[in-house]
Amino acid sequence: MAQYDVIVIGSGPGGYVAAIRCAQLGLKTACVEGRETLGGTCLNVGCIPSKALLHASHQLHEAEHNFAKMGLKGKSPSVDWKQMLAYKDDVIGQNTKGIEFLFKKNKIDWLKGWGSIPAAGKVKVGDAVHDAKNIIIASGSEASSLPGIEIDEKVVVTSTGALELPKIPKKMIVIGAGVIGLELGSVYSRLGTEVEVIEFLDTITPGMDAEVQKTFQKLLQKQGLKFTLGAAVQSVDAGKGKAKVTYKLRKDDSEHDMEADVVLVATGRRPYTDGLGLDALGIEMSQRGQIKTDAHWQTNVKGIYAIGDCIDGPMLAHKAEDEGMACAEVIAGKAGHVNYGVIPGVIYTHPEVANVGQTEEQLKEADRNYKVGKFSFMGNGRAKANFAADGFVKILADKDTDRILGAHIIGPMAGDLIHEICVAMEFGASAEDLALTCHAHPTYSEAVREAALACGDGAIHM
Ligand code: NAI
Repeated sequence: MAQYDVIVIGSGPGGYVAAIRCAQLGLKTACVEGRETLGGTCLNVGCIPSKALLHASHQLHEAEHNFAKMGLKGKSPSVDWKQMLAYKDDVIGQNTKGIEFLFKKNKIDWLKGWGSIPAAGKVKVGDAVHDAKNIIIASGSEASSLPGIEIDEKVVVTSTGALELPKIPKKMIVIGAGVIGLELGSVYSRLGTEVEVIEFLDTITPGMDAEVQKTFQKLLQKQGLKFTLGAAVQSVDAGKGKAKVTYKLRKDDSEHDMEADVVLVATGRRPYTDGLGLDALGIEMSQRGQIKTDAHWQTNVKGIYAIGDCIDGPMLAHKAEDEGMACAEVIAGKAGHVNYGVIPGVIYTHPEVANVGQTEEQLKEADRNYKVGKFSFMGNGRAKANFAADGFVKILADKDTDRILGAHIIGPMAGDLIHEICVAMEFGASAEDLALTCHAHPTYSEAVREAALACGDGAIHM
């Protein structure tokens, strides 16, 4: 059987990026993948397909709400759901084939099938056992449901089922006001579905800056999404084409129920390590089922590494990618590094929501002397022209040194705008550094500069 310097298990953004970097660094590399196509959850049933549906449904929203205002008149487009799904599948295909091309270009062997590790230095795929000096586990995560709730991916669905419903439901209940619930809830709401979100906590998007949470919830409500907060879902009874969700309000323990055609369970994901044989190898795991690693992504078994959703940290494709590159560099004898303090998070609703670094609540809790620079998109000419003036940029900087500690954006293209601040933070920049940088007019990015100016002597257009 073949001998490799590195075998990567899993071809999601963590795994395929690790494999490409290993190959670029001169290591003979293979990647094991059991799905029909490369790319893992992200490309096949996650980030990419959901963005296609978000894009398509946003276009519909623009046509229905803003075209006439700009003098674009005529019948608004109707939805051909089959075609929308075909468009989404085409986007998936282009991306997964792109990874196949990159594997060929970098001479990476795709070992087709589900892999396991019978011993350190060995990877079994089907009947074949391959030798690998190093193994990188990048097996990802799976949707975690609630106890007693059975997922059939038809009426009671995870994000996977929600991306290929046979028809647009009249009513959808979303359990969990996290990233998946709000992105997919937005898609269906724009397509005409009545969307009710039930969330355990008293706020949406836990962990996010509180001001952003409040504005975000208001804007989503304006778009038609309904929220029941502080509600713990007890059970979901699915019948033919209908399901009943029973929940208890935490404030008074009262029990209620709600019916819908489809229930989306979006209550988080858990690491996926089934069938790898980690128990027999004695690989240490955390209580939450994550593979434990050292600072260089090596497990307690020498030569076996792990990255991405199956280890600690935010379950984000780009965090996995960064770990994949850095882990490959460590294996190749270089200095791989990930700055966990500067990992952006983005929610691709409309408006988008993006954050990096610390929230104001975290700074308060740490008793940090900080200042806030805030700028509303109402003061941004480009945003006003584009019907995109909802939201703001908020920069948090150290009160004494002016060093940027965090940023929170809700507004147009927030997911792109945040990276200017990420780069600034990587360089240890002050808010003044951003404020002194010339920003082209008219762009949304001027709102970032204005927020930086607001950390000093004041924003101009406020
Ligand atoms: P999440 O952790 O973002 O949100 C889950 C929500 O469900 C929480 O608000 C939680 O309080 C709530 N919940 C839990 N139990 C509940 C109950 N019994 N009743 C009512 N509410 C309950 O998880 P989500 O949205 O499923 O996403 C999973 C992972 O995928 C996350 O780590 C997320 O970051 C990642 N992801 C990232 C995306 C992005 O970066 N744009 C897109 C999609 C997923």
